[in-house]
Amino acid sequence: MRYASPAVGIAFILIALAACAGQGENGRLDAERGASIYAESCQTCHGEAATGKQAAPNTPTHGPEGHTWHHADGQLVQIIFGRLDFPGRTMPSFEGTLSEQDAFDVLAYLKSNWPAEQRQFQAEVSDNWQKLRDANQ
Ligand code: HEC
Repeated sequence: MRYASPAVGIAFILIALAACAGQGENGRLDAERGASIYAESCQTCHGEAATGKQAAPNTPTHGPEGHTWHHADGQLVQIIFGRLDFPGRTMPSFEGTLSEQDAFDVLAYLKSNWPAEQRQFQAEVSDNWQKLRDANQ
């Protein structure tokens, strides 16, 4: 047989997609689960994820109007776990409270509120960040 059948091609694409999504501990991202973690642990300060309504003063919002989508996944996870220190940081660390899977599920939920161009941009930033990190290790 000279050419692989379309079914084989589709299987490869599905495997590739599964590999891309596999950033959480169990390789699956669950935005719905992320939404309930967000409501419980983040919303009192950050406000509604989609609109930023009722955010506390001086607290960035995570919707399309905010700037969360400018940052790579790796950086956002570092912020959530307090591993990225900067002057005047008041964001509490969720190290020991949330798992990496929890953090990635929350990010999946935040992303579900962003338009396609923002998601695309943020995916590229995340890829570049990861490549730089891998190259420097
Ligand atoms: C007690 C209030 C508070 C809670 C609770 C809180 N944050 Fe924050 N967060 C902040 C503040 C304030 C900042 C701005 C930076 C700073 O002052 O540390 C921030 C910054 C951030 C940033 C970086 C800014 C951005 O949007 O790019 C992210 C990401 C973030 N928080 C995610 C979360 C997530 C996810 C949760 C829940 C798991 C959470 N925060 C819970 C107060 C909070």
